[in-house]
Parts: sequence; C-alpha cells; structure tokens
Amino acid sequence: MGEERFKGIFRPEGEVPPNCRLEEACEQREYLVDGELRRWEGALQEVFSPVLIEQEGRLLRKRIGSYPLLGEAEALQALEAAARAYDHGSGRWPTLRVEERIRSVESFLRGMIERRAQVVRLLMWEIGKSLEDSEKEFDRTAAYISATLEALKRLDRDSSRFTIEEGVAAQIRRAPLGVVLCMGPFNYPLNETFTTLIPALIMGNTVVVKPPKIGVLLFRPLLEVFLGSFPKGVVNFVYGEGQRVVGPLMESGRIDALAFIGSDRVADILKHQHPKPHRLRSVLGLGAKNAAIVLDSADLKTAVQECALGALSFNGQRCTALKILFVHRKVVEPFLQAFCERVNSLKAAMPWEQGAVITPLPEENKITAMRGYVEDALGRGARIVNPGGGESLETLFAPAVLYPVDKTMRIYHEEQFGPVVPVVPFDSIQEPLEAVRDSPYGQQISLFGQESETLARLIDPLVNQVCRVNLNSQCQRGPDLFPFTGRKDSAEGTLSVSDALRVFSIRTLVAAKKNETNQRILREILRQDLSTFLSTDFLF
Ligand code: G3H
Repeated sequence: MGEERFKGIFRPEGEVPPNCRLEEACEQREYLVDGELRRWEGALQEVFSPVLIEQEGRLLRKRIGSYPLLGEAEALQALEAAARAYDHGSGRWPTLRVEERIRSVESFLRGMIERRAQVVRLLMWEIGKSLEDSEKEFDRTAAYISATLEALKRLDRDSSRFTIEEGVAAQIRRAPLGVVLCMGPFNYPLNETFTTLIPALIMGNTVVVKPPKIGVLLFRPLLEVFLGSFPKGVVNFVYGEGQRVVGPLMESGRIDALAFIGSDRVADILKHQHPKPHRLRSVLGLGAKNAAIVLDSADLKTAVQECALGALSFNGQRCTALKILFVHRKVVEPFLQAFCERVNSLKAAMPWEQGAVITPLPEENKITAMRGYVEDALGRGARIVNPGGGESLETLFAPAVLYPVDKTMRIYHEEQFGPVVPVVPFDSIQEPLEAVRDSPYGQQISLFGQESETLARLIDPLVNQVCRVNLNSQCQRGPDLFPFTGRKDSAEGTLSVSDALRVFSIRTLVAAKKNETNQRILREILRQDLSTFLSTDFLF
C-alpha cells in the first residue's frame, strides 16, 4: 500500500542538490567534557537517516554517521566537571560579571551562525525536517539567543539599584541555581535544547546537555564553538542510553535544575530518581492533545487552512500540533471536503525539495504506530475520508483524516504525534468542552468562529483549562516572547525569552539595616567596585 502513490519519491544520491548533500558521514568520536573534546573508544550508535536513497531500484536507508554511547562513568565525569566549574557558586562562571557572560554568549552566537549550513544539513538528514523548516529552526534559535541577551540586559538594569523599605536597604538580583541538566526533544532538537541551555548558561549555571536519541549529530559542529566560548566545565555533553547516562546523574542528587522536553512518563521517572526532589527545580515541556473547535459560525476557509497547518506541519510532530478536530455537525460536510482537499494537496517530497511538507518520519516503528491508530478507529466505525490517506512507503506516511471519531477510539485520547487527523462531529458545545476538561493534557486550544459573544463565553472557561486560547489560528509556541506553558500533564514552569531567565535563577538579596556603618560599607563596596553582585553599574 503506497508504492504507487510514493513511486519515485526517494531519489538517487546524485540528485540531491550539492548544498544539501552530506558528502561524508559524520563519525563522531568526541564528547565535550571539562573544557576538552575527549576521544571515545567504546561502543557507538550508528545513525541512519529516515531519508532513503534509491539505488538500482532498491531503497536504502542512508547511513549518516555515528556517535558515542557513553556509560555511567563518563556521565558522572561530565557532572563532576559541571559541579567543579560551578564550585558551589564560587566558580569563575557563576561569579562573572553579567557583561562578561554576555560576551561569551555573543561569541558563541557568532560561531554558531558561521556553522549554519552544516547544522541545517544535519538537522534535515537526521530528523527528516524540510530544508525550509530546518533553516527556520536554526534562525529562530539564533534570534532567540539575541533576544535572551537583550532580556538579560533589561533584567540587569532593573536590578542595578538599591531598594529601601522599612529602614532596610537591599540590592535584589537573580542568582544561578547550580548544575542544570538540559534535555531537548527530537522534533526541535536544536531549538528546544537551546531555549533552556542558553538561558541557564547566561544566568551563571553550569550545564550538562543530553541530546535526544534522534538529533545528535547536528550538535557536533557546535562543540568547538562551545569550547572556545565558555570556561572549562561550564558546558558538557553526554550521549547514550537514557537509563545508563541520565539515571546516574539524577540519582547523584547533584542536578539542581532539570530542563526536559519529552513525555510526562519519562519526566516522572527522572524526577523520582532525584534523592531530594524538593531540591530540584524542573522546567518541563510535556505531552499535549491540543484541540480545534470549529463552530458553525466559523469562516471555513480560515478554519481549513489553519487546521491543516496546525495538524500537519512537520507531519504533525510538534507538541503544539492540533491533535483532534471537533467540528459542528452543521458544517462538518463542507469542512471535511475542503480539509481533505487541502491535506491531499500537501506536497510529499524529500526534505530538500521546495514546498515539501510530508517528509520521512525519523522515529522507529512510527509507521506501525500510525497504522495502529488508523486500524483501531476503522474497527470502531471511522473511515479514512481523504483518498489515499494512510498509505505508506518505508518512512513516508500519507496523512490520514479519520471521521467520524468518537470516545471509544484510541486516537480520541492519545497523543499521536504524527500525521493522523481525527475529526469528531458535535451537536452541543458541551461535547468538546467536556473532552478538553477530561483530557489529561492542558496546553492550548484553537477556536474557530465569528460570533464575538459565543467566543467570549468559551474563552472564559477555557483559559482555566489550557494556557493559550488561539482565535481563528492554529496552536503554536511562538512568538517566543510570549509565555509557553501548559496545565495538567502538559508542562511544569513557563518558558519565554524572559521567563526562561527567571526559571534558571533565584532571587537573592544583600540587605542591611540603614545605619552609618552599613552605609559606609555599602558605599565603599560600590565605589571601589569590590563586588560583582553589589554593584550599581548600568548595562548599556
Ligand atoms: O514541539 C513543540 C514546539 O515547542 C512547538 O513549537 O509551535 O513553534 O512549532 P511551534
């Protein structure tokens, strides 16, 4: 099934445009620990691209490299290096002036931008993201870093003065937390790792990064840049089986903050591994089952366009993707007709081809999982309503629109994280509202309608169920200055450019009763520039 539809879609190597070609496999033997690139002689993980290559009529998964499968000892060395660099808050990095930390990150950003082409190419081959989206992910990450620098300057300016209350003078600043473990997801391996890594670093923490299982090689070109931009031990990378390398880190009790984007199941395991969970600050981006509710007053053209974009950008592999569509029965027929046309017009192609939307899926067994959802729904009365939906070839899966979906089906409740779109008809608005209320997730929702009064009546209860209500627009994380979070099983903590700086720091103050001795001491410290914390220097 799918051979005809996808015939000729996987191309011979020679047809890959030169700028997208991986001339040689990325054989990574090094890992960055304690200010050096150590060579690994042990076991390796081979990396095969989800993109297949056609060779004399056969389809072969392209081998794109390998990376170290480190063990517990190496992971603990990375932790030791980060702890030493932090040195209980006395290390060079956590006590450095803010402007000096800013200079380090600026230097990193320059080096990162120089390696854009290499990182984008690896991103494309490793996770099958289209060239256009891979470039967007890179550029958005670079822009996020610049915005973080600006936000930190603003934060620092606000804390560069004393406050006097009830006869007590104080300078209040944000201080680092300690050692942060950063773990990003495979679908935004660069962006979602860096949106925690960079804020954690710039606030003075030291970091151990564990890239996701898929999406590792793309960090390789950046290791030298980290090495050249930050003091020894401030940034360390570990690779390998989560249980072998992450378990010991958490069990050591020496991780002060956990930044993790992934499933709530794994997040719970990690948190429970910490011997003193109350000491652990966590910022978690977890699962979601964002719904769209298409009301009978909706402008169907907009609803169709946004729902298709929301459900199927990057093949639906976004935590913010629309994962279930509730459509009012009065408009469900015209909606479905236009929606299926739209879905079937999405271009299935290799990631480097212009306009590619449906691209190879990188996760093992993903096609089987998608088929499982489809078969379960078909067995319970749903149909695939878009011609050719659900057809597959190797790592490619044609989006399947399932209708009518109901509560008895797995796809109604579970996060599919892929190209299957369940459509549920409703007569009463109570039906989708109950689904949102009963869902274990609480990230975002999209409402499509044109009557202000009806929308207002929905907005008020929904803002207490989810953390972002999108009007006539798909769900999404951006703009990155906006808060990004969720309720229930969807998140812990809030990320945005400015929130992230707060998440990875704690308010700390130096306070003194106002008397002559204390005034003299404070004046001398400030005038002679004796402290980095106590300082009224203004950052321009
Ligand atoms: O996978 C979850 C991402 O944070 C979603 O970001 O809405 O910008 O695609 P996005």
